[in-house]
Amino acid sequence: MELLNTGIAGLDRMLNGGIPRGHIVTTLGSFGTGKTTLALQFTYAGLSNGDNCIYMSLEEDEEELIKTAEMFGWGFKQYIESGKLILIKLSAMNIKSTIERIEKELPDLFRTFGAERLVVDPNGTTLRK
Ligand SMILES: Nc1ncnc2c1ncn2[C@@H]1O[C@H](COP(=O)(O)OP(=O)(O)OP(=O)(O)O)[C@@H](O)[C@H]1O
Ligand SMILES: [Mg+2]
Repeated sequence: MELLNTGIAGLDRMLNGGIPRGHIVTTLGSFGTGKTTLALQFTYAGLSNGDNCIYMSLEEDEEELIKTAEMFGWGFKQYIESGKLILIKLSAMNIKSTIERIEKELPDLFRTFGAERLVVDPNGTTLRK
């Protein structure tokens, strides 16, 4: 079973190496407990391994995500430019059409882009305050 490292050494040790490829993992925690940071670090670890990554956020647009990642020294811009990373801002205003869009467009995008890591981050209210 192939394991994907999270980029967090302590967590990878606890997981015996990382997250099994193909698995869906949900991160639960109260606000400000580091869910978004974990998702960004997981994405950066993938990019560093050469994986194509898609990061979808309901709160932060592309520029905001780039800035947040930069605060930790994770340079996302170069990977967007080289076509290895796609950042997508989803609309929380009309959640029904957003979910319909995900169902309709994501499978194709996933295949054509060849994404190896996908992150869906539904919330991000505490960053950059
Ligand atoms: N492992 C960590 N150690 C110390 N600080 C951290 C750690 N992970 C995240 N933080 C800091 O904690 C704050 C909140 O993190 P983050 O936004 O990732 O939480 P969240 O769970 O996504 O919050 P929300 O539920 O509001 O979306 C940020 O300022 C972040 O820099
Ligand atoms: Mg968050």
